[in-house]
Amino acid sequence: MPSTLNNIAKQGEYGSAMMPVIQGVGRAAIEIAAVLRGAVLRGALGAAGGENVQGEQQQMLDVLSDEIFLEEMRSTGFVCAVGSEEQEELLVIEEYSHADYLVLVDPLDGSSNLDVDGPVGTIFSVVKRKTPNSETPHVSDTLQSGRHVIAAGYVLYGPSTMLVCSVGAGVHGYTFNPAAARFELSHADMRIPESGGYYSVNEANKAKWADNMGENLIRLKQEKGLGMRYVGAMVADMHRTILKGGVFLYPADDKNVTGKLRLLYEAIPMGFIMEQAGGKSMSKDIAVLDIEPEALHQRVPVYLGSKDNVDSLLG
Ligand code: AHG
Ligand code: MN
Ligand code: MN
Repeated sequence: MPSTLNNIAKQGEYGSAMMPVIQGVGRAAIEIAAVLRGAVLRGALGAAGGENVQGEQQQMLDVLSDEIFLEEMRSTGFVCAVGSEEQEELLVIEEYSHADYLVLVDPLDGSSNLDVDGPVGTIFSVVKRKTPNSETPHVSDTLQSGRHVIAAGYVLYGPSTMLVCSVGAGVHGYTFNPAAARFELSHADMRIPESGGYYSVNEANKAKWADNMGENLIRLKQEKGLGMRYVGAMVADMHRTILKGGVFLYPADDKNVTGKLRLLYEAIPMGFIMEQAGGKSMSKDIAVLDIEPEALHQRVPVYLGSKDNVDSLLG
């Protein structure tokens, strides 16, 4: 009998509390994967006509994935509010506003890949509220450093749909088995290789990078002899980095002066997974998980990978 997401209940201090939430992520993933698969045939590719709070054009599939994810979090009964890339404000789930947990989510990551049938993902993390359960959850409940994250993970919509997550007891990957309609453990205890692998970055921005990163990357390449891969979807690039080794980076640049990737629903969940997989997660001179968040949609530079590669890049 294969291990399923039920397995999570046995992991770490928060496994049993987090299992229903992660099962909810799994249900959202199954639904989002199905929507993605048929989108081109239903005319659901392309812009939705609105902008998100970051001033980025929302795709129809960004909006749909957001709705699906919110609905599945609501259905768990354990989530009082969701902070999403696609929602300017914290979304309070009124009927469960007394519940203990908040979820931060990038419902559809790498959405520029949609037009070319490339891989995309979902990224999430879970924190416990700070306000009393008798009060309405507040955005300040989301502003907790990565050291307070209870569970985090991502879904990769590729040739198969994979849910990779951690409740603070290692990183485990589950692959959706369509024949059994469930996620089954396929990648137990994922650990990033200490050497080898690839560097992964949008190198077209090199001339604009801050912090001398252009020179540092040249040095890293000379020292480590890494190959290069870049999908342009953080989930896909991070998944490869964890399995094959190397480093994923998105430095600050002239255009994105504080970095491009969002702290609460991209950098922290991926930083948590990278640390749990034995790697290192830096945002220049501070660990991603040590940053004290100031805003829901805050952006930061990220350097995530094996210790040696991250140190060499930032050294
Ligand atoms: P999103 O689609 O959620 O806005 O995220 C896109 C992010 C991330 O997935 C990826 O690593 C990065 O943007 C790619 O940016 P560039 O196109 O600037 O390389
Ligand atoms: Mn994203
Ligand atoms: Mn997104």
